[in-house]
Amino acid sequence: MGDNAKFSIDGDNFEYPVLQGTIGPDVVDIRKLYGQTGAFTYDPGFTSTASCESELTFIDGGEGVLLHRGYPIEQLAENSSFMEVAHLLLRGELPTADEYSEFTNTITRHTMVHEQLRGFYQGFRRDAHPMAIMCGVVGALSAFYHDSTDINDPAQRMIASHRLVAKMPTIAAMAYKYSIGQPFVYPDNELSYTGNFLRMTFGVPAEEYEVHPAIEKAMDRIFILHADHEQNASTSTVRLAGSSGANPFACIAAGIACLWGPAHGGANEAALNMLHEIGHPDRIPEYIKRAKDKDDPFRLMGFGHRVYKNYDPRASVMQETVREVFETLKVKDPVFDVALQLEEMALNDPYFIDKKLFPNVDFYSGIILSAIGFPTSMFTVLFALARTVGWVAQWNEMISDPGQRIGRPRQLYTGPAKRDYVPIDKR
Ligand code: SDX
Repeated sequence: MGDNAKFSIDGDNFEYPVLQGTIGPDVVDIRKLYGQTGAFTYDPGFTSTASCESELTFIDGGEGVLLHRGYPIEQLAENSSFMEVAHLLLRGELPTADEYSEFTNTITRHTMVHEQLRGFYQGFRRDAHPMAIMCGVVGALSAFYHDSTDINDPAQRMIASHRLVAKMPTIAAMAYKYSIGQPFVYPDNELSYTGNFLRMTFGVPAEEYEVHPAIEKAMDRIFILHADHEQNASTSTVRLAGSSGANPFACIAAGIACLWGPAHGGANEAALNMLHEIGHPDRIPEYIKRAKDKDDPFRLMGFGHRVYKNYDPRASVMQETVREVFETLKVKDPVFDVALQLEEMALNDPYFIDKKLFPNVDFYSGIILSAIGFPTSMFTVLFALARTVGWVAQWNEMISDPGQRIGRPRQLYTGPAKRDYVPIDKR
């Protein structure tokens, strides 16, 4: 693309610089457009809008490429660990052995929550959706950690970041324990980040809990696949909340709330519920027909993506992980067969081909999580646990950007023009 983009509005000509990134689409810098033309751009779903500059994650939706600071997700999922990826996203590089040890020790030392936070859970009904608990408890963290809410102090930002990454597994496991009436299990600092989470979730004080290495590895890989994903809805929510100067705990609570939606992170719970509802391969054509019916609100959950118009690379890794976990646990789940056949039929259907609808990260994740023992209500909690690393990294990147300003979009106003008040006896 040339140096400047040229616009003509009402016969007047304007030029705006075109900015180039390392890879990916150029952007037209329209920051001066309203001041010069008196017109806004209009892009309600932000399908053509770059909201920020970022070095964290790159997605090529056409090619199905996902890079975290340049490293392909397939290589990270195969060779790395969630804590390594957290270091990469938060500090910019894969850690050396010493850096890894220092980072994991730092995170480990923040895994406990304030003892009084346990009281928050008692305020919820036992059948409360765990995401409701996550919204409430994570938002409440700001009431306990005043020493890390000064967002202008890099040291406090880093402590808050470490606290959020470290405490999410503890808070998530407590939400699960509360829902099943079992006692909370304290963190065990001898375990890995993911092993610690599995023990807090499935262990009980009455007996020793052995972390299953294959499950720990699969869970850790699932966390890697969910760590960050460019400027998705919940990350944009965290950035917008953070742009007002809100404390990081409140910003992450806002991200959790947004992620909960079935069009976003809630899709993993909805996808498994859908697969169970379909129940048998014979019923797949009926559901594909419904998904294609404009008058039917039903959609194939776990299919389609705003950016990926090719196979979501995370879905490929997830499908492979299902096979590995099933082989290790010597389990079979007819729902996996339904998922595989549903994918096969959809990817050969002109509707899905024409609209470039492929399985996304949420299509297979529920099958593994269910096999490991999580109820569907916990699936989005696990997504939020992992995505906290990305949210915190994106929040830090935004706050430390000297050009950062409060986010304040405008609108196309279509309401009534100015009119005078009419007294009630004259209406
Ligand atoms: C995540 O943004 C991210 O990066 C998100 C995420 C992350 O890591 O943060 O990747 C995680 O949220 C993955 C997406 C999970 N959501 C789902 O699986 C829910 C089902 N998918 C859809 O709701 C939809 O595909 C979205 C929300 C994901 C994307 O919606 P878009 O980009 O706004 O696309 P659209 O709704 O305008 O759909 C385009 C067309 C429409 O048909 P037409 O109006 O053009 O005729 O495709 C159809 C839609 O009806 N369509 C589907 C469909 N998804 C889109 N039809 C049937 N089944 C589907 N799943």
